[in-house]
Amino acid sequence: MTKYVINGGRPLYGDVEISGAKNAAVAIIPAALMVDGVCRIENLPGISDVSTLLNILKEMGASIRVVNKRTIDIDCSHIGTSSATFEKMRRIRASYYLIGALLGRFGRADVAMPGGCNFGGVRPIDQHVKGFSAMGAKVSVRNGVVQAVTGGTLRGATIYFDVVSVGATINIMLGAALAEGTTYIENAAREPHIVDLANFLNSMGADIRGAGTNEIKIRGVRRLRGGFYSIIPDQIEAGTYMAAVAGTGGRVVIKDVIPKHLDCISRKLREMGVTITDFEDSVVVERTDPLIRTHIKTMPYPGFPTDMQPQISTILCLANGTSTVTEGVWDNRFKFVDELAKMGSSIRVTERTAIIEGIPCLTGAPIKAGDLRAGAALVIAGLCARGESVIEGVNYIERGYEKMIEKLTALGADIKSLDLPDEPKAEPREIG
Ligand code: EPU
Repeated sequence: MTKYVINGGRPLYGDVEISGAKNAAVAIIPAALMVDGVCRIENLPGISDVSTLLNILKEMGASIRVVNKRTIDIDCSHIGTSSATFEKMRRIRASYYLIGALLGRFGRADVAMPGGCNFGGVRPIDQHVKGFSAMGAKVSVRNGVVQAVTGGTLRGATIYFDVVSVGATINIMLGAALAEGTTYIENAAREPHIVDLANFLNSMGADIRGAGTNEIKIRGVRRLRGGFYSIIPDQIEAGTYMAAVAGTGGRVVIKDVIPKHLDCISRKLREMGVTITDFEDSVVVERTDPLIRTHIKTMPYPGFPTDMQPQISTILCLANGTSTVTEGVWDNRFKFVDELAKMGSSIRVTERTAIIEGIPCLTGAPIKAGDLRAGAALVIAGLCARGESVIEGVNYIERGYEKMIEKLTALGADIKSLDLPDEPKAEPREIG
């Protein structure tokens, strides 16, 4: 088992380079399955979710060539199966994008679904099913496998989502790219990675307009051809480092980002007394004065991202006064507060709102990550705390953060990864 050991209380200074976006990569890799020819994908993050998905494609028959540490060529031309029911599929939430990709390419899909998850209680896929059914697929879910079948190909349709769903928007966009006729998605999600997927598909020959608004029009094309594409920077990885500097104090240049994508995070950090200066492809984050309390509600983009909620809740533990954080996307994303309590925090959760009383400092403790963003939040807590924190469950963190230890060490943090070979390593299942 790997643990992170942090000696907290040091401000962060220096530069950090942000990797490619996890949630764009996990949509673009399945999208490559629909392409006839070689896709060169650049700026891929070096995280375990990406390697799991690439291994799934390999098992299905894709040929994958590593060009350099951030670039790969994927050729799925020879894949002949519409089934992806491997055990690996259950480890990552994003494996459900293979439903849209396989339906688009073959007109049918058998895909194993992720099992339980570590936050959020139920993670339904009713909106995905609603969309594919409107496009002519018969969808059933049995023994954890989703089976979707059409008479030949998906047909264009108008689909109104009852909830704003990133996953359903992406899945329908995938299937619709090779469908017969035109699909309209209404009440679509608008996250930057949705625009990135549309740009990827368009650069391979798809005809998608309106991504980034709540109405997307997808005119189906007969075939997608190979090409080059570079993934956008990771909004949440950048936000996590911004929150870390806000928590510890110091001054850090967050490099290789799209500052516009960070506005929803920067605005709240500024309210908390953090100085943030935007440049063309970097932001400088500086915090010298005590943090000020604030009130936050998470919402779909361009609202404050739910994937930054644990990190911001953590630093609000150290703000002057009482803050509230309301979770507007997931049902139950506050499990990590039990770990923060071990470090002396004062947080009370009522339904979807955390009431956070600011305290002067957190104290290092043994703590355990239960999911990816909770893990990132606990690292931030450890960096801010007095004394030593030992974090378990870091396999979750490594699903979505490339070289976190190296990046934080370069900023002056005292953080080490310890491998303890005698304890069994838990397989991450869930989320993301
Ligand atoms: N929902 C439904 N029905 C559906 C789909 C979703 O009711 O068919 C509900 C969910 O229960 C939730 C809300 O809609 O309350 C939003 O869910 P969404 O479908 O947008 O989430 P997702 O696609 O499963 C992605 C990210 C998550 C991120 C959410 C929200 C990926 C691979 N995952 O999940 O990222 O929290 O969008 O922004 O893109 C993470 O990176 O740590 C992570 C969990």
